[in-house]
Amino acid sequence: MKLLRGRLLDFRDMPQSADDTAALTYIEDGALLLDGGRIVAAGAFDDIDARGAEVIDHRPHLLMAGFIDTHNHFPQMQVIGSYGAQLLDWLNTYTFPEEMKFVDPDHAARIATAYFDEMLRNGTTTPVAYCSVHPSSVEAYFTEAARRNIRAIGGKVLMDRNAPGGLLDTAQSGYDDSRALIEKWHGRGRAHYAITPRFAITSTPAQLEAAQALVAENPDCYMQTHLSENRDEIAYTMELYPEHSDYLGIYEHYGLLGQKALLGHSIHLSERERGVMRDTGSVAVFCPTSNLFIGSGLFDEGGMRREGVRIALATDIGGGTSYSMLRTMDEAYKVCQLQGQNLPPPLAFYMLTLGNARALGLEAEIGTLIAGSEADVVVLDARATPAMALRMETATTLAEELFVLQTLGDDRSVKQTYVAGEAML
Ligand code: GUN
Ligand code: ZN
Repeated sequence: MKLLRGRLLDFRDMPQSADDTAALTYIEDGALLLDGGRIVAAGAFDDIDARGAEVIDHRPHLLMAGFIDTHNHFPQMQVIGSYGAQLLDWLNTYTFPEEMKFVDPDHAARIATAYFDEMLRNGTTTPVAYCSVHPSSVEAYFTEAARRNIRAIGGKVLMDRNAPGGLLDTAQSGYDDSRALIEKWHGRGRAHYAITPRFAITSTPAQLEAAQALVAENPDCYMQTHLSENRDEIAYTMELYPEHSDYLGIYEHYGLLGQKALLGHSIHLSERERGVMRDTGSVAVFCPTSNLFIGSGLFDEGGMRREGVRIALATDIGGGTSYSMLRTMDEAYKVCQLQGQNLPPPLAFYMLTLGNARALGLEAEIGTLIAGSEADVVVLDARATPAMALRMETATTLAEELFVLQTLGDDRSVKQTYVAGEAML
């Protein structure tokens, strides 16, 4: 048993404003009792019976639920910071050549180790990853996650056209490989499988039919793909699928939408498409550092939320430029600012934790510090750098502290990350 002592911040619901304190629990001298990989008690330090527990004092730092990154590409760690291209050129010039390397299981294993190291250094305890087309990349991903007991979601990309030969499967082989990977990994320990047609451009209609079958046969699995990220991508997609009137209509036609559908980017959507997103409960995944870096556009966070579309937040490594969900939130704030929208700090930290857990339907397991939850916890220091410490001299409220963390914070603010009750740093 371990007892973590610190300032507890936990969300109960989505904060409606900067000072909506009903949505969160904050305890200045709080504690979490961890046992068997779970949080068994949470509350004021004085109220928790710590007999027999190892006490780890994290004061004055904040204890929050571990962060959740709902969309990234594990084979793109060496693509980050590739210069001067927008989406389709970026994929062809940098990304596809890099993903070819994952045919080599040793390379995949090495990058999987680096990937989970980096996630944990940044306080992310649950990632949702696209692996490469090669089943060996999925093996590497889930093997490394299991070794550290991380709740991880991922899947092999399905792609059978418009990419180099070394990156293509077929409708049949993609189906067979996905099925075998689902059987092996989905529900094993803390692993979840995501059926992953990369996007409509790299899948033939036959492959989307195969993805439809996989989704229908495995309703517990996630489905992840990309949607309406870039204007040229949309135009090319509509050329390839002329019988559909809009981009989302393609995924809709092939039965890919629903509560388990994670649609990366979802930037340039029509009213009809937003209505379908809402009505099907599909999740729009906001990837701000990527959208700015690749020059894709501004995600309409305020508008989609108002219309009742489910929203998640993600890094989109390696189109994204930071592994840190704090840096990601900083860029999300700026994307909202450019559209005259606001994103209050409590809402931001809700999104990184309970909000993303709800988007994945995993709020009973992760995303909160409630007793019974899995013990995935991040320890945050808002004075981690000289500049942050100086700024914190003038911060008087919790909301201000959170805003300093999201504006100036990064991996240096993460003092410890616990996964299923074990310290990882
Ligand atoms: N669309 C299809 N594949 C990708 C990818 O790897 N990254 C991004 N940002 N968009 C995509
Ligand atoms: Zn992506």
